[in-house]
Amino acid sequence: MRVLVTGGAGYIGSHTLLELMAQGHVVCVLDNYANATPTVLNRVRALSNGQITDFVGDVRDAKKLDEVMAAFAPEAVIHFAGLKAVGESAQKPLYYYDVNITGTLTLLHAMERAGCKRIIFSSSATVYGEPQYLPYDEAHPTNPMSVYGRTKLMAEQILTDWVAAHADRTAVLLRYFNPVGAHPSADLGEDPRDIPNNLMPFIAQVAIGKRDVLEVFGDDYDTPDGTGLRDYIHVVDLARAHVAALGYAAVHNGARPFNIGTGQNYSVRDMVAAFEIASGRNIPTKQSPRRAGDVAAMQADASRANAELGWHATHGLDDMAASTWAWQSKNRNGYDTD
Ligand code: NAD
Ligand code: UFG
Repeated sequence: MRVLVTGGAGYIGSHTLLELMAQGHVVCVLDNYANATPTVLNRVRALSNGQITDFVGDVRDAKKLDEVMAAFAPEAVIHFAGLKAVGESAQKPLYYYDVNITGTLTLLHAMERAGCKRIIFSSSATVYGEPQYLPYDEAHPTNPMSVYGRTKLMAEQILTDWVAAHADRTAVLLRYFNPVGAHPSADLGEDPRDIPNNLMPFIAQVAIGKRDVLEVFGDDYDTPDGTGLRDYIHVVDLARAHVAALGYAAVHNGARPFNIGTGQNYSVRDMVAAFEIASGRNIPTKQSPRRAGDVAAMQADASRANAELGWHATHGLDDMAASTWAWQSKNRNGYDTD
């Protein structure tokens, strides 16, 4: 298929480009580099020997989108472009609604004008909020606890209403759990611009000596070791879920959410221990209070994605830690290493 990938220079988008090209899909990227660098696409090109058409532009720019649609004529869109920092979303709510909601609406309008009828959307497990039961299945009530989470749920609702109004449209809503890890080449990985918000990149920066100590947010949760439990998913598995979703979208209409996780969860202490083994380095930790908005535990019931997308996670915790370390140690300063 001809696939337009918005936000394709980002962490998940870049890994997905490689998996798409490996399966014979033809790709085009639109990215404004708000949280990425053009180096990423050069590295993807080098790893794939493939063709990537790319446009620099904002997903809220209707004129640019028309230009991209006219030049590339996509049969499907994978919509990664967006903002994702939970804490920042509370400080800059209008910015988050603008990029994540206006961006999605502008894209849908452009797809309508161009006759493109399929979209794969980057949603998040954060749409569920405080668990009423675990693992979450897709029928679990949604009650996001952050501005960021509400933008994801609203975008899901917009996509669902769009599809409901037209019998031949498809929206696959992928609710990612916690993406971690890096490409086996160690040439692609997560490269946070500032202080990392997320656990794995923070641990990696402590291991490489860029930061002194990992703060463990809360040790009094109702979990076996008192620290938060999450369902970490290797980014290569996550990338492959998008290829599976495209196959699904080729033969199904309607809007459907899918959990994308492994079904297992690990504590903060488990992650530190796995990283110490992978890196052979000690990770100093400091106990800190709970972080506002965090839940004790998250875990995916991924059986719908397993059954309907034919997708299964295959990478375990060791690989998540080892690939993150390989990426971090090969690229001390991320993509600025080039
Ligand atoms: P990322 O920041 O690495 O990638 C997002 C990409 O979109 C970047 O390349 C950025 O430059 C681009 N972008 C941002 N605003 C844009 C705009 N207005 N126009 C065009 N391009 C724009 O993030 P990621 O981790 O790869 O996440 C991709 C998507 O998955 C996001 O929508 C995010 O909300 C969602 N998601 C991420 C996680 C996670 O933990 N990484 C979890 C659940 C959902
Ligand atoms: N944690 C620490 N110290 C840190 C960072 C995190 O102890 O420096 C802990 C957190 O308290 C939590 C766990 O590590 O228990 C994971 O935290 P992350 O920030 O890595 O991930 P979250 O589960 O908070 O959030 C992530 C993404 C969201 C997404 C959510 C749901 O950041 O965008 O997963 O899948 F919505």
